[in-house]
Amino acid sequence: MGLKETQAYQFLKFTNLSLKNLGFREALVSPSPPFKEYQNTTKIKLSVEKFPPTPNFFEILSKRRSKRGYKKNPLSLREIALLCFSAQGVTGIAEPYLLRTAPSAGALYPIETYLAINYSYEIEPGIYHLEVKDFSLALLKKGYMGKILSELALGQAFLASASIIFIWSAVLSRTISKYGSRGLRYIFMDVAHICQNVLLASEALGLKACPVGAFFDEELNKFLELEEGESVIYIATVGK
Ligand SMILES: Cc1cc2nc3c(=O)[nH]c(=O)nc-3n(C[C@H](O)[C@H](O)[C@H](O)COP(=O)(O)O)c2cc1C
Repeated sequence: MGLKETQAYQFLKFTNLSLKNLGFREALVSPSPPFKEYQNTTKIKLSVEKFPPTPNFFEILSKRRSKRGYKKNPLSLREIALLCFSAQGVTGIAEPYLLRTAPSAGALYPIETYLAINYSYEIEPGIYHLEVKDFSLALLKKGYMGKILSELALGQAFLASASIIFIWSAVLSRTISKYGSRGLRYIFMDVAHICQNVLLASEALGLKACPVGAFFDEELNKFLELEEGESVIYIATVGK
């Protein structure tokens, strides 16, 4: 099969913008709420009132490497809060938008952050959802999930020894309702900004991190009990 026959090539071409198709609209997709909030569950408040001193920004850039050798060491609540802030901390309000540390096409913020806590001093192991509006972690499932997540990531063992695992999903209709299929490009750009923030913040805090794109999509969606239209698109491990 030649490149032109691949779905990747055809998607890129189909979603090209040109003067000819600027007014063209695909079938309408209804928008969905701008962020998810879980009710009736334990919430752990996060806070980043004071930022810690860190190495020079350009040193951080030169030192960042994907690191997978973790020693099951716990992270502090403060470290976890700083990493969550780097991912999706709210840094401004432009009604009705909650502006964040990472940019987002059309300020539509299609990405949801889930966090598996494997080893932490203050937070018990489990799966949490990052509630962007009140900057807290909502408990979804109790217990150490590192082993299951490692299996869901094609058996990549380092997920089991990471202190925490970021799992990012996309709520497709938030962005697709405005941009059509081209919005899928933006969704992947959005998540990459978020992930890079976390990778650099990890380096700044003297932690090790690795992005992960290989996982069993449907099984992971089911594990997180995501609804139709929301799908996991990226993962990152952080540890010591
Ligand atoms: C989109 C993407 C997906 C990746 N998926 C994985 C993965 O599933 N497992 C893994 O060990 N590393 C993964 N990596 C890390 C790459 O292997 C790594 O970035 C690359 O080897 C370059 O090394 P560096 O990050 O240390 O500079 C991924 C990186 C990116 C950007």
